[in-house]
Amino acid sequence: MAIISSKKQPQEPNGQPKKQPQESVKASSHQELLQAEAAVDEQGKQEESIRPQRFADYIGQKDLKDVLDIAIKAAKSRNEVLDHLLLYGPPGLGKTTMAMILASEMGVNYKITSAPALERPRDIVGLLVNLKPGDILFVDEIHRLSRMTEEILYPAMEDYRLDITVGKGSSARIRSLPLSKFTLVGATTRVGALTSPLRDRFGLVQKLRFYEVDELSKIVLRTAQLLQTPITEDGATEIARRSRGTPRIANRLLKRVRDYAEVKKAGEINQSIAGEALQLFQVDPCGLDWTDRKMLSVIIEQFNGGPVGLETIAAATGEDTQTIEEVYEPYLMQIGYLSRTPRGRTATTAAYKHLGFKPPNEQMSLL
Ligand code: ADE
Repeated sequence: MAIISSKKQPQEPNGQPKKQPQESVKASSHQELLQAEAAVDEQGKQEESIRPQRFADYIGQKDLKDVLDIAIKAAKSRNEVLDHLLLYGPPGLGKTTMAMILASEMGVNYKITSAPALERPRDIVGLLVNLKPGDILFVDEIHRLSRMTEEILYPAMEDYRLDITVGKGSSARIRSLPLSKFTLVGATTRVGALTSPLRDRFGLVQKLRFYEVDELSKIVLRTAQLLQTPITEDGATEIARRSRGTPRIANRLLKRVRDYAEVKKAGEINQSIAGEALQLFQVDPCGLDWTDRKMLSVIIEQFNGGPVGLETIAAATGEDTQTIEEVYEPYLMQIGYLSRTPRGRTATTAAYKHLGFKPPNEQMSLL
């Protein structure tokens, strides 16, 4: 089954998309707290209930919102469909949410799928032929499309045309079917892994960046309000600081802190309750987990601060190289704890200090 999720925009009598009803939120497991990928139980109703529905509710990513706002206004004024859009960046930053908001702002329907669900050509064909004019087709992990699926997408994206081969061998013919004009929104954590013919067919290529602490803090306050959880501003900031620049992690940590505050009968989440709870869950003050700390301590203790090759770091931590590159390194580089050089990874002075090691320049000055 190719479609993961499909939605007709519910409309208010004035034609505006309707707000989604609130739903209760279930717990996810402790070990997955700092993983930016969505847990299985977060892909459903829980995440839906707190997902912003319009740009006005979406906090952060100002540059991206400005670019998309112009694209939407221009497309609407010309009565055209939105250009195909490629969103890239680390997991958990809101690529799916952005696609849903685009549909809502354009007043069109969306279908959500992901490249691994489009293994056979008929999966993508089935989706394309059912699209209505203006619809948004969101394809997650688009760098993982098979070659055949990708080749079906080229004329579909460029000319809204489906080219189907009928017959076999020397009698094979290509038949073209017209498709509705639609917008493809592709999402990827690995923009460099896209083939250039596919990348070149997106009119807009936009990056999502990590969120600042003050933005995450506002997100935590907003979610707490939706969950009817009392929280102070410094409580929200404490959670935000430990959320690796990622709203999905911030919302997950909030739910765990809420459990802690309820069990401890704390009344509200303040800075000290949030700090205590997150210490219990072994989330450090910068949001680092065991693997982050292991990566940095291997570089510092065994390789004098680096440079160290990716394979060595992967072997020392038991993680695969792709997870290290896509999940761990972007945040460690963002907070200035790790740098990538052509000869390998090095730990920065800030990383030495965070882990309680003496930085090399201070060691020299002691000699
Ligand atoms: N929940 C998750 N991401 C959000 C965002 N960017 N703004 C508001 N609420 C969110």
